[in-house]
Amino acid sequence: MKIKDKKEKNVKKIKEEYLKLKNEINSHNKLYYDQNNPKISDSEYDLLWNELKSLEEKFPFLKTKKSPTIQVGYKANQGFSKVKHSSPMLSLENALNIEDVKKYIEKISRYLNLKNEFIELVAEPKIDGLSISLKYKNGKFISGATRGDGQIGEDVTSSLMTIKNIPKEVINLKNIDVFEIRGEIYMDKKDFLFLNKNRKLNGESLFANPRNAAAGSLRQLDNEVVKKRNLKFFAYTYGEISKEIAFKSQKEFLDIIRHYGFPTNEDFKICKNFNDIEIFYNEIEKKRDKLKYDIDGIVYKINYIDVQKRLGLVGRAPRWAIARKFPAEKAETQINDIKIQVGRTGILTPVAELNPVLIGGVRVSRVSLHNQDEIDRKDIRIGDTIKLQRAGDVIPQVISVDLSKRLKNSKKFIIPDKCPCCKSKTHRKENEVAVKCTGGLSICEDQQLGSLEYFVSRNAFNIEGLGGKNLKKFWMEGFIKYPFDIFYLDKFKEKIISKEGFGEKSYLNLIKSINEKKIISLEKFIYSLGIPQIGRRTSNLLSKHFKNFHKWFISIENLSNGNVKVYNDYINIDGIGPDVVDDIKNFFNNEKIKIVKKLSQSLKKIEDYKFLIKSNSKLSEKIIVFTGTLEKMSRSEAKSKAEELGAKVTNSVSNKTDYVIAGKDSGSKEKKAKDLKIKVLNENEWMKFLS
Ligand code: IVH
Repeated sequence: MKIKDKKEKNVKKIKEEYLKLKNEINSHNKLYYDQNNPKISDSEYDLLWNELKSLEEKFPFLKTKKSPTIQVGYKANQGFSKVKHSSPMLSLENALNIEDVKKYIEKISRYLNLKNEFIELVAEPKIDGLSISLKYKNGKFISGATRGDGQIGEDVTSSLMTIKNIPKEVINLKNIDVFEIRGEIYMDKKDFLFLNKNRKLNGESLFANPRNAAAGSLRQLDNEVVKKRNLKFFAYTYGEISKEIAFKSQKEFLDIIRHYGFPTNEDFKICKNFNDIEIFYNEIEKKRDKLKYDIDGIVYKINYIDVQKRLGLVGRAPRWAIARKFPAEKAETQINDIKIQVGRTGILTPVAELNPVLIGGVRVSRVSLHNQDEIDRKDIRIGDTIKLQRAGDVIPQVISVDLSKRLKNSKKFIIPDKCPCCKSKTHRKENEVAVKCTGGLSICEDQQLGSLEYFVSRNAFNIEGLGGKNLKKFWMEGFIKYPFDIFYLDKFKEKIISKEGFGEKSYLNLIKSINEKKIISLEKFIYSLGIPQIGRRTSNLLSKHFKNFHKWFISIENLSNGNVKVYNDYINIDGIGPDVVDDIKNFFNNEKIKIVKKLSQSLKKIEDYKFLIKSNSKLSEKIIVFTGTLEKMSRSEAKSKAEELGAKVTNSVSNKTDYVIAGKDSGSKEKKAKDLKIKVLNENEWMKFLS
C-alpha cells in the first residue's frame, strides 16, 4: 500500500473514532440535561469528554463549532429553575398526642389573652405528599413551584400542567391579578403500587412510599412520564393574593376555592371544643386504611383569619396551626453490630447496624442508640432482637429488647474510653449524657470532616457536588482544611482536574455551585458554623436579634472575652437560655473567631436579617418598651408584633427609647418616660398603631 493511502486510512479511522465518541457524549448530554436521568457518573462522563478534547488537540481538523467541548459548555442545573416564594412556604409544629394539642391550645389562648372561651379550630387530614404553590394570573394557571427550603423552590410548572385536577383556568379569578394557592401534590396508594410493580418488572429501583413516588415523579423532565404517574392535588391554603377576597375563616376559604373549582378535601371538621378534636381524630384514624391516599396525621388550624394574622409565625412554622401525627409504626429485627460514630462536636454516638427491616414502607438498616444511658436503660446488646418504631419523618428508635431471644454469650455494650478515630481519651462530664472525644477539632479527623460536612449540608451552605466523597477527597489532599478554604478551591484547579475521576466538567460545575453560595443569609451563616445547640431555630433568633453580621461578630468577640453586658444581652434574647449562651461562649475561642472572620471575607455578602413581614412601617427601627399589663394581647404577642413591624423591644427606658407602651398598673417606667419626655401610648393607642 502506498504511504498516501495508509495515511488516508488512518485519518478515516480517527474520524470514525472521533464521531463515535462525539455521539456518545451527545447522547449522555441528552440524558443528563433533558431527561434528568444520567446513565453514567460525572467522572465517567469526564473521561469521555477528556478523550474527545485530547483528540481535538492532537487533530485540530476534527473540531467543529458543534463539538460538545465547545457547545454544551456547562449549562449547570438545566433541570429546574429556582423560584423565590412571595412569602415563605412553612412547615408545621408537631403534636404527638392529645396532651400536646391541649398544651398548644392553652399556649395560644395565653398568647391571645383569652380567658375561658375555646378558640375555634378547623381539623383537616394531613396529606402525606409534597407541598406546592400554584400561581394564577387573571384566572390562568401560569406557574408552580415546590417548597424547596421554604424561601426558594423549584419551578415545576410543566410537570404540574399535566396534573388533571389542577384547574388551568378559573373564571372567578379573572379579575384578580395574582392568586397563589398552596396545597399538596400526592399519589394515590393504588397508583403507587402499580408504579412500583412495573418498576420491579423493568428492574428499576423502587420508591419507598407514595410521597417519594410523588416527589420523584414531579421532578421528571419528561412530561409524558409525569402524566402517566397520575399525580393529584389538594388545595388547603394560600400565598400571595393581589386583591381582597372575602373570606373570614379557613372554612370560608375552603368553601370559596371549592366553588372556584379547586380540589379540596371533603373530610374536615369545625372543632368548637376538645371533644370535637378527639372525635375527628378517631374518625379519620379509623378510616385511614380505607382512604385512597396516605395521610400521616391531622392538622388543626385556627379557623378565623384575623386571629391567624395575630398569631403570625414562630421560626418556620405558623403559630396558628399544629399537626397531630398518628402513632408510630412498629417492627422487629436483630442487631448485627454496634458501631461508634464521632460527630463534629466530638460526641461518640453508638449506632446499631440491623438486619434491614421495612417500617411503614421505609427500609431501616441502622438506628442510633443515642448514648450510654439509653443503652443501659434498655440494656441493648449486639445480637439482641429489638422492637423498633418510626413515625412519619421521625428517625427510627428502639422501643425495647426481647429478652427471651437474647443470645447466651451476649455482653453489655460500653462506649469505648478511646476515640475510635484519633485514639484520644474519651470523657463524660458530670451531669451530661454524652461521651466526648478530648482530641478536639485540631486532632480528631472525624470531627474536622464532620464539621465540614455540616458546613456544606442542605440547611447550611448547601453546596451541591461537595457532599460525601468529594469533600473527603479534597480534605485528604489538603485542599480544604477550614470552611473558608472551600471558596478558594479554584487555586487547585490543575490538581483537581488532573485527579483521576475528576474532570473539567465536574470541576466547573462544582466551582459554579460554590460561587452561587457566596451570598448567604446571616441566619444560615451562623447555623453553618456548627455551634453546639444552635440549630435552625436558634440561629434564626440570633440573626433576628443582631440583624447584621457586623453586630453579631462584635458580640461573639465580646462574649468570648467574658464581657458581662454582652452575656446578659444574649441571655435576654427570648427563647435562648443560659446553657445555650455558655455553649456559644465556649465555642468561640480565638482560633474559631479568626476562622469566622476569614470565612466572612471569603464571601461576597452576608445578608442582614429580613423581617418576614413589613420593615418600612411606622415602627421600623424604633426602640420601644412595654410596661404594665395589656388587656387585649399578651406581652409575647405585643413583642412579636412590634418586632415584625421592625421595632426593637428593650426592657429599660432611656434617652434612646422612642415609645413606651403602658398597660394597666404601669409603674416607674411610665413615670421615667414622662420625665424624659418620651411618647407614652396607652393600650388603645397601641392597638391603633398596629392596625
Ligand atoms: S397547612 C405550614 N394543611 O404538612 C403552612 N398542611 O408537615 C400551612 N400538609 O408543609 C400548611 N396536609 O406540606 C396544611 N391539610 C393540610 C396539610 C398540610 C399536608 C403538609 C404541608 C406542610 C407539611 C408540614
